Amino acid sequence: MPDEPLVLGIETSCDETGVGVVRGHTLLADALASSVAEHARFGGVVPEVASRAHLAAIVPTMRRALDRAGIRLADVDAIAVTAGPGLAGALLVGVAAAKGYALAADKPLYGVNHLAAHVAVDRLEHGPLPEPAIALLVSGGHSALLLVDDLAGRVTALGATIDDAAGEAFDKVARLLGLPFPGGPPIDRAARDGDPAAIGFPRGLSLPRDLAAHPYDFSFSGLKTAVARWVEARRRAGEPVPVADLAASFQEAVADVLTSKAVAACRAYGVSTLVIGGGVAANSRLRALAGRRCGPAGITLRIPRPGLCTDNGAMVAALGSHLVAAGVRPSRLDLPADSALPVTTVTV
Ligand code: KG4
Ligand code: ZN
Repeated sequence: MPDEPLVLGIETSCDETGVGVVRGHTLLADALASSVAEHARFGGVVPEVASRAHLAAIVPTMRRALDRAGIRLADVDAIAVTAGPGLAGALLVGVAAAKGYALAADKPLYGVNHLAAHVAVDRLEHGPLPEPAIALLVSGGHSALLLVDDLAGRVTALGATIDDAAGEAFDKVARLLGLPFPGGPPIDRAARDGDPAAIGFPRGLSLPRDLAAHPYDFSFSGLKTAVARWVEARRRAGEPVPVADLAASFQEAVADVLTSKAVAACRAYGVSTLVIGGGVAANSRLRALAGRRCGPAGITLRIPRPGLCTDNGAMVAALGSHLVAAGVRPSRLDLPADSALPVTTVTV
């Protein structure tokens, strides 16, 4: 519909420079430039390298997004930008660029939460999100279970990881196995030929006493250590490491805990919609297991296609268009970039 808000979204919180254009629930453009190859040899994202790459990529990525959408900046109703959480220097590049564009084109500016944007992107594929919904957010930097009463402002944190994020666990285990960075995709691929029941790895915070104290929290550090010990023992014994079985068993432990806690949260809060977002939501086993567990529990499962799960500009535009439609006031032009922005703060 032509009267739906046309919003441009800018994402620079980590290693992807993303600019997306969305009209209402429709994705018009999703331009992306990644610095992932520049970080690979360090085994993790190097903040200074990421910031410099954003600086070089932001203007060309912006041009590509506008071209692909077939619009000019003057046509948009608003600009949205990730204000946090993320790497401080990387966020600053996007926020500064967004302020410049907003000021130059005289457009309202929304500084938005990256994690809420990971939830909002699902609107582009499955339409308006029923509320309340439970959101499972699993990325390289975060793992959280959220109660979403209103994506435009009322989000409650039910639990989060107490140590490593789920994506971080994939990245660290991949490194241990000699697989490239980021580790999620190669582990996902290696696991296809493996037996998920080959090795019984621990399920963090899932014993009865841990469940009582941390029903919706996660812990992946013990799992990572268990994988490391297992690999060390094999190598010490001079035996080969069965990468496919190991990847499948590790992936199973992560997917098992994430999905069982998400389904438990839906049941406890009487919520019948579960949305999963963030880079780890691209994982094939997590997607399959979530589907298997949600069906019998009467829960409607929504997971965006893998390309929209990892960081991109469309997710920021998707949240922006939702905020405009909901009548939320824009941010001030001096809005800060906040590397530790709490998940409950949807707009700054
Ligand atoms: O959301 P995202 O793109 O960036 C952050 O906000 O962190 O998530 C990146 C994370 C990385 O840790 C990466 O290994 C993981 O998502 N990831 C996956 C898969 N694809 C990306 N993890 C498991 N399976 C995948 N297929
Ligand atoms: Zn992310």
